[in-house]
Amino acid sequence: MRIAVVGTGYVGLVTGTCLAETGNNVICVDINEQKVAQMQQAIVPFYEPDLEGIFKRNIAQGRLTFTSDLESAIDASTIVFLALPTPPNEDGSADLSYVLNTAENIGKCLKSFKIIVNKSTVPVGTADQVREMVARHSKHPFEVVSNPEFLREGVAVMDFMKPNRIIVGTHSEEVKKVFSELYAPYMRQGERLIFMDERSAELTKYAANAFLATKISFMNEISVLCEELGANVEMIRKGIGTDDRIGKQFLYAGIGYGGSCFPKDVQALSKTATDIDSKVNIVEAVIKTNTQQRERFFHKISDFFGGNLKGKRIALWGLAFKPETDDLREAPSLFLIDKFLAEGATVAAYDPVAMDSTRKQIGDRITYASNQYDALNGADALVIVTEWQAFRNPDFDIMAQKLTNKVIFDGRNLYDLNRMEERGFYYNSVGRKTILNK
Ligand code: UDX
Repeated sequence: MRIAVVGTGYVGLVTGTCLAETGNNVICVDINEQKVAQMQQAIVPFYEPDLEGIFKRNIAQGRLTFTSDLESAIDASTIVFLALPTPPNEDGSADLSYVLNTAENIGKCLKSFKIIVNKSTVPVGTADQVREMVARHSKHPFEVVSNPEFLREGVAVMDFMKPNRIIVGTHSEEVKKVFSELYAPYMRQGERLIFMDERSAELTKYAANAFLATKISFMNEISVLCEELGANVEMIRKGIGTDDRIGKQFLYAGIGYGGSCFPKDVQALSKTATDIDSKVNIVEAVIKTNTQQRERFFHKISDFFGGNLKGKRIALWGLAFKPETDDLREAPSLFLIDKFLAEGATVAAYDPVAMDSTRKQIGDRITYASNQYDALNGADALVIVTEWQAFRNPDFDIMAQKLTNKVIFDGRNLYDLNRMEERGFYYNSVGRKTILNK
């Protein structure tokens, strides 16, 4: 099939590349000409594991191309995916200007039948708005479909190639036929493709992310109880996760969820409800819990130093909001860095891939270590923020030598409590007892 993908962020580029991988002809469109030139030279503009190989292969085989000319891309395609940003407005609602401007431009250059597919996370009713906008500028027939993405950064290629399910919101029988064919290679059996109306598809995306954020926040609440009651949240996770009705995933207590989706989508769902004079109480609680969880973690560290961080040197392991990405959006690391600096501490950080993106965003307000151990030189405490694999089994002897105090605050529960006790560290994690150093 001939496909255009408008927007080459991580959703658009992963979508375009993975659609080319199964034999489709894909042309990716972006207004950023510099980025387009880079991609034409087969340079992936961001870090996403497993993407580069198939990206380069499909470019070499001529199935994946790039342009900044929307009109020529639309002319060359039957299906047009929109993978555009929907950043939050001040009031938490989603800013639809990128989506609607593009819909207007598509309307203006439509010459034949197209299926316009929205992949971005958008409020219920956006498909209708896109439809109206295109129709205002065009007399040609077209369909507007809602096909939300469920790609996790870091494993986005796998999520696309082997999805749990694909949601397609459409009323059109013709679109159903086209999408059954388009997505057949990604499904072991057809039952993973779920057709529904556009509004339900749009709401499914918000409901999925809000539910996952709720699972995490629930465990974060339980972690607070665990600390007070002397229980271990990792045991609770195993104990309840083995119940199929609950499921094992997204039960890890930590320092609160971050990233480009959960915080934004949970806020937007709350706004959607208030707009219709309704309220999703659980969602309101989730937002509050997530903020509290970060603050609690910071206060643990501050309290350890008697409420005075002035002149303290903090080593930070991990900057990205989660492993296998260089994305810093809503990363707990940024929240903590702001807090530490405001209290007069200095921060030395190490992250395997997100140091460049951090430097671009916050400059030299902190120092960047060349490896995870150098970050510890003379530090009063190590704070672990992202669960990169390289942090899971470090050399504790080197750590003990480099740190001024053998003190670790672990926001990701990476280490075994007994082992930390044997090693003589002060070890404070989430929802587990604190190990006091000997
Ligand atoms: C998420 C959704 O999973 C994906 O389906 C959607 O399309 C985009 O948003 P992503 O933001 O890439 O993907 O990351 P995800 O792996 O879902 O993690 C989100 C946040 O939750 C991270 O900050 C992570 O650290 C946190 N998290 C996740 C926990 O704190 N505990 C858990 O058990 C799982």
